[in-house]
Amino acid sequence: MLIGTVRQGRMSEHAARLVHNELSMRPGVETQLIDIRELGVASDDEGAAVKVPSFSAALDRADGVVITSPEYNHGYPGMLKHVMDTNSWEYVHKAVGVVSVSSGPFGGGRMIENLLPVLRAYGLVPISRDVSIPNVHGVFGEEGQLLDENFLHRIDGFLAELIWMAKTLRYGREHIANEAKNR
Ligand SMILES: Cc1cc2nc3c(=O)[nH]c(=O)nc-3n(C[C@H](O)[C@H](O)[C@H](O)COP(=O)(O)O)c2cc1C
Repeated sequence: MLIGTVRQGRMSEHAARLVHNELSMRPGVETQLIDIRELGVASDDEGAAVKVPSFSAALDRADGVVITSPEYNHGYPGMLKHVMDTNSWEYVHKAVGVVSVSSGPFGGGRMIENLLPVLRAYGLVPISRDVSIPNVHGVFGEEGQLLDENFLHRIDGFLAELIWMAKTLRYGREHIANEAKNR
């Protein structure tokens, strides 16, 4: 689970903590909340040159990734891309789901549309469901408490789909030869 912005006072952190908490209660699931602000990725180079070994190891272990990201000018935060670009093969054939957050009425849907081709370029496999949280200041209280319980139902379906895809892709990685590797 990635917290996808470094902004001070970020509201999307509340969404990330909520979804992480729900995910951690699923039987047989191990999850780690990774704050891109805490990784200390250098900003004077790009890609594998500024790789953080503990982050790469966490991605290598993972069967799936959840990205919680706000919408900034209809896109995703540049820092999120900078951090994600530090890895490559660690993502391949793993499930990814997106939790989008906005203070406006559209819930970050425009951000998701921009992020999807990037996720595909990493080799991640996006699931068909998202969690979109519009008007975020009315969804979480000042302490980060959830004010609108309707989101729990959406998160439940999102996580069910994510876990199914993560398990299915893990089976494929472990049991099914990939002919594309040699072509
Ligand atoms: C640089 C910047 C650009 C933003 N652009 C948008 C936008 O395009 N659409 C939108 O709904 N909200 C936009 N917002 C407001 C965010 O939706 C708002 O900050 C919200 O709380 C989620 O982001 P957060 O995790 O940074 O708090 C923007 C905020 C920033 C800092």
